[in-house]
Amino acid sequence: MSWLYRTFARPFLFAQDSESVHNRTLGLLSMASRIDVARDLISSVYEVPDLPVTAFGLRFPNPVGLAAGMDKQAAAVPAWRSMGFGFSELGGVTWHAQPGNPAPRMFRCVDDEALVNRMGFNNGGAVALAERLRAWRSEGLWPAHPVGINLGKSKMTPIESAAEDYAASFRALWALADFFVVNVSSPNTPNQRQLQDRADLDAILDTLQAVNSELAAGGVTKPILVKVAPDLTFEALDEIVSLVEPRRLAGLVATNTTVARPNFQDHLAQRVYRETGGLSGRPLAARSTEVVRHLYRQTSGRVPIVGVGGVLDAQDAWEKVTAGASLVQVYTGLVYEGPAIVGDIVRGLSERLAGGRWEDAVGSAAR
Ligand SMILES: Cc1cc2nc3c(=O)[nH]c(=O)nc-3n(C[C@H](O)[C@H](O)[C@H](O)COP(=O)(O)O)c2cc1C
Repeated sequence: MSWLYRTFARPFLFAQDSESVHNRTLGLLSMASRIDVARDLISSVYEVPDLPVTAFGLRFPNPVGLAAGMDKQAAAVPAWRSMGFGFSELGGVTWHAQPGNPAPRMFRCVDDEALVNRMGFNNGGAVALAERLRAWRSEGLWPAHPVGINLGKSKMTPIESAAEDYAASFRALWALADFFVVNVSSPNTPNQRQLQDRADLDAILDTLQAVNSELAAGGVTKPILVKVAPDLTFEALDEIVSLVEPRRLAGLVATNTTVARPNFQDHLAQRVYRETGGLSGRPLAARSTEVVRHLYRQTSGRVPIVGVGGVLDAQDAWEKVTAGASLVQVYTGLVYEGPAIVGDIVRGLSERLAGGRWEDAVGSAAR
């Protein structure tokens, strides 16, 4: 199926500006989400077998999820399950609505199957996202897979008030999602990655867990994960690992986009790589797998890791899993391979598992 997309749809889509294509596609998916036959049609075209995985107390129909940033405003929540995704991470959302950086702010490097983006958390704010999520629920269109929300810091909020900013979004959205990802790793909001420093991150997590306990009122708290940058040193990653137990982190998401650029670049690639922003896709794969492996080893495999960065096929996903990822996510892969990528990866993972247990495959090349 991917070849159909690559041969016919992609040349047409790639002839247009990438953000415009993104917006139009989301618009169509949003419409399709509301039409029963359209959702059924998508599900039957992109049939994806089950490969159930359990992580941080949630059951995932398969381990392949939609990465943050694709559906920042929850425009097409039902459609992601129809495409076969085992979970989706919506957002990044910030407490304050904000326009993001000026366009153009998303660029393709087709030869390298990569993107560079400096979107800067363009989104309508946490309250608008909450309304959208409530609407999907009340229309009976909530998807049958775990839904997470990626929380970012509002640009206008000073770094000293970051914890309150994250907490305001968390509070507004707490009841509406299955898990939350604290994004302190976006390269596109000034100073945001500084929040990966132990003391700053500790303060944010402390505040979020207080809200979590308060809203759970003796019941079940929501899993909170932290998403890390691929540009952190192993020492800096270890500082984050040291917060896992005291701050009851449910998992780690590795990785966000990188500010690094590949060493070898042809003329066309150079033009794209000169753009400021985060690089995703194929050139990110090896480093993000390295980070997954490091985190898996440092946590002795006890903390679920979501592996993301340059997953374009089943082999890429398998490398993440055997390095220590219990779940994987795709963003750039969806742009380059089309929606068939989900089924291709799930089928490829099942083949590689060959009847074995998922838990045994996770981290098998890192032990
Ligand atoms: C256009 C774009 C926007 C993104 N927005 C977010 C975001 O809001 N929050 C976040 O944590 N990651 C965001 N990401 C990062 C992705 O979730 C993912 O971590 C990264 O792209 C690596 O995965 P990939 O190689 O499969 O794209 C964004 C990526 C892209 C390309």
